[in-house]
Amino acid sequence: MQRLIEIAPSILPADFTRLGEECLALEAAGVDRIHLDVMDGVFVPNLTFGPDIVRSLRKHLSIPFEAHLMVTQADEFAARFVEVGCSTVLVHAEACVHLHRSLSNIRSLGVRAGVVLNPHTPVNTLVHVLAQTDQILLMTVNPGFGGQAYIPLLDKIAETKALVDASGFDIDIEVDGGINATNIAECAAAGANVFVSGSALFKYADRAAGVADLRASAQSTRK
Ligand code: DX5
Ligand code: ZN
Repeated sequence: MQRLIEIAPSILPADFTRLGEECLALEAAGVDRIHLDVMDGVFVPNLTFGPDIVRSLRKHLSIPFEAHLMVTQADEFAARFVEVGCSTVLVHAEACVHLHRSLSNIRSLGVRAGVVLNPHTPVNTLVHVLAQTDQILLMTVNPGFGGQAYIPLLDKIAETKALVDASGFDIDIEVDGGINATNIAECAAAGANVFVSGSALFKYADRAAGVADLRASAQSTRK
C-alpha cells in the first residue's frame, strides 16, 4: 500500500512579523501539516521559537503540527510541544541517549512519535525502535538553518524504505532540507512520502502553486 504524499512546510523562511497570516496562507494553499523547526542553540548553532509561539498558532489553524526538536533536552521539550498542540513530535536519535524510552514517552502522551537522523547517522540506528516509531525523518541537510543545499541521500532513503517495509510497521518516511519541485521526485521514488520544504516553497508568491508543483512532482513517480 503506497502511503499518501504529504507536504509539510517549514515556517523558518516566514516573515515572523506576520507569522499567523503566513501559516494561514499555507493552510489555504493546501499543505498537509506545519513543520515547526525548534532549535536551542546547543544541539544546532541556531535559535528559533518555543512552545508559546506554537500555542498562539494552534488556535488559528486546523491542520496538524509536527515539532522537529533540534534540542539537547528532547525528552523535556517533547511534552511541552504536545501540550501546545503538536500531534507529531520528532526527536533526533543523536540527542537521545535512551531513544527507545524517548519515543515510548512521546507515544504515552497520545501523539505520534518520530525519529530524526542527521545525514551521517546510519539507518541501522532505527532497527530496535521501529515498534515505537510512527515517522522517520531523514535530514537532507545538516540541521540548523533553512536555505541550505540539498544533500542527495537516495540510497539512505531506499534503505529506510526497505527496512520499514520488511518490518510491517505503519511508518511515514519524511525528508527535510533543500527539498524543491525537482529533487522531491527522486526522494519520492526512493521511498519518502512526507516532504518538508521551506525556502523552495516560500519562493512561490502563490503558495498554492508551489504546493501543487511539489505534490505533482512527487506524485509523478507513482504508477
Ligand atoms: C533545518 C530544518 C529544515 C529546514 C528546511 O535544520 O530542519 O526543516 O528549515 O528548510 P529548507 O527547505 O529551506 O531547507
Ligand atoms: Zn526541520
